[in-house]
Amino acid sequence: MTTRVILDSVDLSVTRGELVAIMGPSGAGKSTLLNIISGITTPDSGHVFVAQTYLRGTTATERAALRRSSFGTVHQRGNLIEALTMEENVALPLELNGERPRRACQQARLLLTDQGLGDVCELFPHQVSGGQRQLAAVLAALSSHRDIILADEPTGALDSAAGDEVMRLIRAHIDAGATGLFVTHDARDAAWADRVIYLKDGTITSDTGTSMSTATLLGGETR
Ligand SMILES: Nc1ncnc2c1ncn2[C@@H]1O[C@H](COP(=O)(O)OP(=O)(O)O)[C@@H](O)[C@H]1O
Ligand SMILES: [Mg+2]
Repeated sequence: MTTRVILDSVDLSVTRGELVAIMGPSGAGKSTLLNIISGITTPDSGHVFVAQTYLRGTTATERAALRRSSFGTVHQRGNLIEALTMEENVALPLELNGERPRRACQQARLLLTDQGLGDVCELFPHQVSGGQRQLAAVLAALSSHRDIILADEPTGALDSAAGDEVMRLIRAHIDAGATGLFVTHDARDAAWADRVIYLKDGTITSDTGTSMSTATLLGGETR
């Protein structure tokens, strides 16, 4: 078996109220970085301190519990459960938070209706458009007010207007006191972030939080 280094010497600290955009070419390690932060992937070396916890000392069950209590995540393709209706999908994190199912569904319906998705509440994910799925996945991630939001290309399936709306929702959640990281290929999305990190071949080649200017980053400077 051959060994490949996917991420190397990544040093990153993100504080409450901060929204960080992660950019970089395909295969750079962006999704892997998010998976390490949420404890889905365990790095071979180094430390991850997140939600007041050093992940190295935890069991897989503890990490799953931490994800449930502290993380809202959006996967690249909109992580909805196919067997649940759109409304039930958005309600699920609320129920995991201890909300009663009936109330959770009412809240989910309001959130969906606010976003113009009132008509699809009772449909299943395969019956709606990719954009509607992705928007619902973002609403599900944000609905239960988790402390940490991780979003992997949350605007990928959306046109500019819908993408802006998703970024506005994420930004509002962070401004309310959460911490967020999202992956994007779009400079328009990155403009919503406080800070842009550029990953290439598994290392951070620039970080507007430390030195380089956003303009340099968005121009694709990788050195
Ligand atoms: N589970 C895995 N096993 C082995 N290699 C993987 C795995 N996941 C990702 N990789 C590899 O790690 C590298 C970074 O992948 P990824 O983090 O998905 O990149 P990005 O999200 O920036 O496109 C890629 O070369 C990919 O093939
Ligand atoms: Mg990826």
